[in-house]
Amino acid sequence: MTFPPDFLWGTATSSYQVEGQNSNSDWYAWEMADPGRIKGALNCGLACNWWANAEADLDIAAEMRTNAHRLSLEWSRIEPEPSVFDSAAIERYRAILQACHDRGLEPMVTLHHFSNPRWLVEKGDFNSEIVADYFQRYTAKVVAELGDLIPKWITINEPITYAVLRYLSREFPYAERTGMGALFEAIHNMLRCHAAAYHTIKESYPAALVGTANNMQVFEARPGGNALDRWWARVVDRLYNDSWQDALHTGRYRGLLGSRRFAHLAGTYDFVGINYYTRFYLRFPPPPGFVDREWGEGAIVSDGDYGEVYPYGLYRTMNHVWQRYGAPIYITENGLPDAADRMRPAFLLDHLRQVWHAISFCYPIMGYYHWSLVDNFEWDRGWTQRFGLVAVDPETQVRTWRPSAHLYREIAGSYTLTDDMAARYAPEMVGVMWPGKEPG
Ligand code: FCB
Repeated sequence: MTFPPDFLWGTATSSYQVEGQNSNSDWYAWEMADPGRIKGALNCGLACNWWANAEADLDIAAEMRTNAHRLSLEWSRIEPEPSVFDSAAIERYRAILQACHDRGLEPMVTLHHFSNPRWLVEKGDFNSEIVADYFQRYTAKVVAELGDLIPKWITINEPITYAVLRYLSREFPYAERTGMGALFEAIHNMLRCHAAAYHTIKESYPAALVGTANNMQVFEARPGGNALDRWWARVVDRLYNDSWQDALHTGRYRGLLGSRRFAHLAGTYDFVGINYYTRFYLRFPPPPGFVDREWGEGAIVSDGDYGEVYPYGLYRTMNHVWQRYGAPIYITENGLPDAADRMRPAFLLDHLRQVWHAISFCYPIMGYYHWSLVDNFEWDRGWTQRFGLVAVDPETQVRTWRPSAHLYREIAGSYTLTDDMAARYAPEMVGVMWPGKEPG
C-alpha cells in the first residue's frame, strides 16, 4: 500500500506536556495547589525536558525518518505578564523550530494547546471577550518573530474538548463558573480568538496554511440501544464533532439552543485537522462519566480503559469531513496509551491503512501526525498513560524505542505498508490487510 511522495509523516506533542517547568501556566498552578488532582505519583515536573533539550527528541524523530512534527508554543512563556514579551523564550522557540527544519522535520505549530498564562485566567480567559484581543496580540508577536519558520498553523487545539473538560467534567483547571452557559460562552470566545488569529497570520503569510485540530470521535448508540439512545448519539455527534468546524465554514455557531453569527469567521480554515482516537457508546440518560464503558465482544481496549481500538472510525471520520467541507485534511493526532506496545503496531498499520484507503479514493489526506513521539505528561492522567512511540522514564529521562517506533520508521522511510512489515510487527494483521495471505 503506497502513499504519495509528498505525504507528511509526523509525530505530535504539546508544550506543557513535554517542556517541563512551565511555572507561569495555569496547569502548573493547578498541579501545585493540589497534587491529588493528577493521577499517579508523579506530576508534570521536567516533563520530557524539552525546554533544555528538545533537540535530543527531534534527533529521534529524524532517526525515525519522519519529515514533519507538530508542536505547540506556551503562551505563558512568550508573554509571562500582560504585554511583557520574553525575548529569551522567543529565541528558544526559534532555536527549536530551526532544529526541526535542520532535521528535515516540517513544523506544524499550535498556538493554544490546553494551557493559559496565569494572568489571563485572572482576567477571565475564555469567559471574557477581551481574550480575543490578547490572543490576537500574542499571535501577531509570534507571526512577527517566528512566522518565517512556520508553514502550518493550528490556532487552537481541540476547542470543544477543552471546553467540555473545563466546564462540564471539570478534569482540567476550571474557574468558579462552570456549566453549559460558561461552556458556550467560552466556545464563542474561542471562535473570536481563532478568527482574529487566522487573519493575523494570513496578512503576513498568505501562503501559510491555518486550521484547527478537532477532536473527532465516533459516537454511537450503545449496542442494542433504543431510539432515544440513537437520538442522543446524533445530538452529541453534531455538537462535539461538527459544531466547531461548521462555524469556521459558515461563520455561524449552532449550539444547543439557537445560533450566533460571528464577523470575519466564515471560511477561516485552509484544512481540517482531525485528532482521532476512539469510538464511544452513548445511552440516554447518560451514565456517570457520560459514556458507556462496556464494549462489544472481542473489542480491543487500550490501557486504563482509555477506549476501544476502532480503526475504521478514522475512515468514517475522514469521509464525513471530506463530504462536509471538501477541504484538505491532516490527521493532526492519532494514537493510544499502550505502555507494553502490545496493541500499537497493529493500531498503526490498521489506522494508516484507513488513511491509504481514503487517499486511494483521491481524498486529500495530506499528512499523519502520530500522538506521540515520546511518552509525556498526560494532563490529569499524569504519567499513567503512555502514548509514546518511544518510552520515557520521567525520573531518569532515559528513552527506549518501542517496537512501534521501529515499525513507524520503516513505514515513513518507505512510504508504504507491506505484508512483510505486518508479518514482523503484527502478524495478526496480515490476513486482515491482505486477505488470503497467511502470516509467515
Ligand atoms: C488529545 C490531546 C493531547 C493528548 C492526547 C492523548 O486529546 O490533544 O494533548 O492529551 O489527547
